[in-house]
Amino acid sequence: MSELILGIESSCDETGVALVRTSAPGRTPELLAHALHSQIEMHQAYGGVVPELASRDHIRRVLPLTRHVLQQASCTLAQVDLVAYTRGPGLAGALLVGAGVACALAAALDRPVLGVHHLEGHLLSPFLSADPPQFPFVALLVSGGHTQLMRVDGVGRYELLGETIDDAAGEAFDKSAKLLGLGYPGGPALARLAEKGDERAFKLPRPLLHSGDLDFSFAGLKTAVLTQARKLGAQLPERSADLAASTQAAIVEVLVRKTLKALDATGLQRVVVAGGVGANRQLRTQLDAACAQRGVRVHYPELHLCTDNGAMIAMAAAMRVQAGLAQPQRDYQFDVKPRWALDAISASNH
Ligand code: KG4
Ligand code: ZN
Repeated sequence: MSELILGIESSCDETGVALVRTSAPGRTPELLAHALHSQIEMHQAYGGVVPELASRDHIRRVLPLTRHVLQQASCTLAQVDLVAYTRGPGLAGALLVGAGVACALAAALDRPVLGVHHLEGHLLSPFLSADPPQFPFVALLVSGGHTQLMRVDGVGRYELLGETIDDAAGEAFDKSAKLLGLGYPGGPALARLAEKGDERAFKLPRPLLHSGDLDFSFAGLKTAVLTQARKLGAQLPERSADLAASTQAAIVEVLVRKTLKALDATGLQRVVVAGGVGANRQLRTQLDAACAQRGVRVHYPELHLCTDNGAMIAMAAAMRVQAGLAQPQRDYQFDVKPRWALDAISASNH
């Protein structure tokens, strides 16, 4: 029996709403419609996300987006069987908007609600592509707040292999971009500038490259970029493309080499890349080339679904329901989890 699932994402600076339909067990759920409002322009003036403004904007956007998605899918609210929302991790106030609206809608409709882990959404987002991956795989999760390598054996079966001990890869992009005077969010801006630069121009550290484990560290890289920028002084504007290219090359090399190590450690033959930094072209090119040499397939979410969106939340909910792992609630007493480890929801840890 198919179920219609409404998904709401509001963990940071994007309001996303989507409708997904589950089908027979073993078949990938179908995305019927999704809509997104990005707050980037609103936060740009402040050089980063202002949490209070983010929450207020989610309140303004979430219902119009929901109406739009229902219209696009030619569905009515009454047809929705389950309302899913991002329960964490993320900004507390922003998460509360999605959780509150999801529970209010579900209570009014007399339907259950399901809180979804944001990173599980990213992790399963490649299943929204035309050529979805198969389990098991190594996942490289690279978002603004997280950098993790996971072994994924199925829905809800996540084993953490390694993670950053300080900054995330996205943060390294964002902070370096800020040092170069680029806007927020820094990742795409730095990547664009890097296209015009020489990545061999500056020798930057590759932290923990030879640490023997699968952990990452990016805080030192940001300091090295700052030192280099100071050294350049007045020359910085004309050398910023070279510095951007060298920074991107350092981040990408560490991500690629550690992913290859994770393949060695697990013996797996498939990689899934998810999260905002997964949109980075250089990362895609380098990882594809390195994996092709080993006959390993790399799966990515579609470019527009790399960063936060509602489709991945509805999809993760649908896949949990199909796997029999979801425990939808009917008491509507929601709470949110601003800090929440993904392996804490892994079935293998219970
Ligand atoms: O997954 P995401 O949308 O949000 C979180 O859950 O954190 O990731 C946002 C991060 C930001 O750090 C942003 O700068 C980075 O992804 N990002 C990129 C690119 N597009 C987004 N970093 C490098 N290159 C890109 N093309
Ligand atoms: Zn995200």
